[in-house]
Amino acid sequence: MTSTAPTRHPVVPSDPPALLLDGITKTYESKAGAVQALRGVTYHFQQGSFTAVMGPSGSGKSTLLQCAAGLDQPTAGTVLLGGTRLQGLGEVELTKLRRKQMGFVFQAYNLLPSLTVFDNVALPLRLTGIRPRRQDVLAVLDQVGLADKAKRRPAELSGGQQQRVAIARALITRPAVFFADEPTGALDSKTSRQILSLLREATDRAGQTVVMVTHDPVAAAYASRVLFLSDGLVAGSLDNGSPAQIAAAMSDLER
Ligand SMILES: Nc1ncnc2c1ncn2[C@@H]1O[C@H](COP(=O)(O)OP(=O)(O)O)[C@@H](O)[C@H]1O
Ligand SMILES: [Mg+2]
Repeated sequence: MTSTAPTRHPVVPSDPPALLLDGITKTYESKAGAVQALRGVTYHFQQGSFTAVMGPSGSGKSTLLQCAAGLDQPTAGTVLLGGTRLQGLGEVELTKLRRKQMGFVFQAYNLLPSLTVFDNVALPLRLTGIRPRRQDVLAVLDQVGLADKAKRRPAELSGGQQQRVAIARALITRPAVFFADEPTGALDSKTSRQILSLLREATDRAGQTVVMVTHDPVAAAYASRVLFLSDGLVAGSLDNGSPAQIAAAMSDLER
């Protein structure tokens, strides 16, 4: 800038959204006919935000997550992740982007049973060609409270511990965006709270962006915003809702 005028705050936030969905539609072709799972979803996920995606069964939540993460291609529309357009990337580039910029946590922990906890967590680095540093792996294990379990195998751990390993595995690459689909679906409420607090910390402490599908209002209340889907469309959102407020908004949708 050459002018001496005082700096003005731009009207448009200077941080580009971590994740931008623009006009996403998804149609599944099946023997029974076409199913329109998403019918034009446009939404910006700000960097450092924690968003819960809720909606009746079949409303398109998982499809939205799959398309946003480049695990599935939308029928139409654009996904921008950190400014990179996913559509038009080849499978190799997309895989690279996923490994570097995205973390995944699903209801099924998807750990490799033959690898130790340490090696499961180190795997995403190895897959990107980075030699994992022992202290880095132990640091994320410590972050999820499992530093003493590094040499165990997944089968020797409880469900909650396995999910924490899955979170450590997602944290190791310091992804910009975490995608979680029912991450606490198989866990008791105490263990769920631990997992949700870890996701909350990722946004509060590290400025990572979390998009989490859940049907549980208590889990959704950990997010700062709930995005409601209905019949493949965004039906509204609720900020800083209590579990009771979120549950009430959900039952309105299901009517
Ligand atoms: N692979 C698929 N083939 C055909 N239809 C699908 C497929 N995946 C999802 N659907 C349909 O798309 C709609 C949205 O599904 P989904 O995104 O899984 O919803 P949710 O996660 O909200 O329950 C549903 O009607 C579902 O039956
Ligand atoms: Mg689903």
